[in-house]
Amino acid sequence: MAGAGISTPSGIPDFRSPGSGLYSNLKQYNLPYPEAIFELTFFFQNPKPFFTLAKELYPGNFKPNMTHYFLRLLHDKGLLLRLYTQNIDGLERVSGIPASKLVEAHGTFASATCTVCLRACPGEDFWAAVLADRVPCCRVCTGIVKPDVVFFGEPLPERFLLHVVDFPVADLLLVLGTSLEVEPFASLSEYVRHSVPRVLINQAVVGTFAWQPRGRDVVQLGDVVHGVEKLVTLLGWTEEMQDLMRREREKLGAGKS
Ligand code: APR
Ligand code: ZN
Repeated sequence: MAGAGISTPSGIPDFRSPGSGLYSNLKQYNLPYPEAIFELTFFFQNPKPFFTLAKELYPGNFKPNMTHYFLRLLHDKGLLLRLYTQNIDGLERVSGIPASKLVEAHGTFASATCTVCLRACPGEDFWAAVLADRVPCCRVCTGIVKPDVVFFGEPLPERFLLHVVDFPVADLLLVLGTSLEVEPFASLSEYVRHSVPRVLINQAVVGTFAWQPRGRDVVQLGDVVHGVEKLVTLLGWTEEMQDLMRREREKLGAGKS
């Protein structure tokens, strides 16, 4: 289970960290409250704040960090049952984790849909408008085009239902970089069997690890990359991790990560 905290080392702000989180830096949009930027009613009244934010989060500007590549290494080793992420930055895909192993529970910027006629809008058209500070409009009916990011109150993608088959059979749960504040995603942490170790790597003890801890919970507090590095060393995978990151970074070219 992953949240915005795994992407802050890549330079993308999370939502709730005091001061640095997105929700404390939306003053210029004079929103009624921070979460409004992800609410449909506000979006239809004034889509500009969301698209200004989208431009800041443009996927091309950021690269995966060690946390993403650790999850990719788990996949390469046949150990990743599924990665449930709340993140919309798409860095899990960029790190090479196949879509079949991903549940992007809060949607993704990878595709976009017209809010009027529901036609799919090609990603390049969408991003061309966003990067040119224009509100993307449907070529056919001129309705506003919204990326397939889940706004508050919208249903989660159907793939989220995979949790019904995944969590009961998982034999380890990793929870990385999330405040576990948003439902129904946060409750996933309760769905593994009580015999299954749950490992939280996060700046703070959050959610069920705070108010309903279990005997086999492990909490590694502090920076997520540091925590992942410790785990990789204990696993004896340091060399493999370095090789994988070197290969992937050559593929992606230089850039912030
Ligand atoms: N290392 C470890 N922990 C970190 C790091 C880091 N480098 N950076 C941030 N964190 C922690 C924060 O302390 C916080 O506990 O990650 C967590 C991030 O929490 P949020 O900002 O609330 O992000 P997230 O949990 O992903 O939010 C869930 O809220 O607004 C909605 O849809 C949005 O998907 C998002 C959802
Ligand atoms: Zn349309």
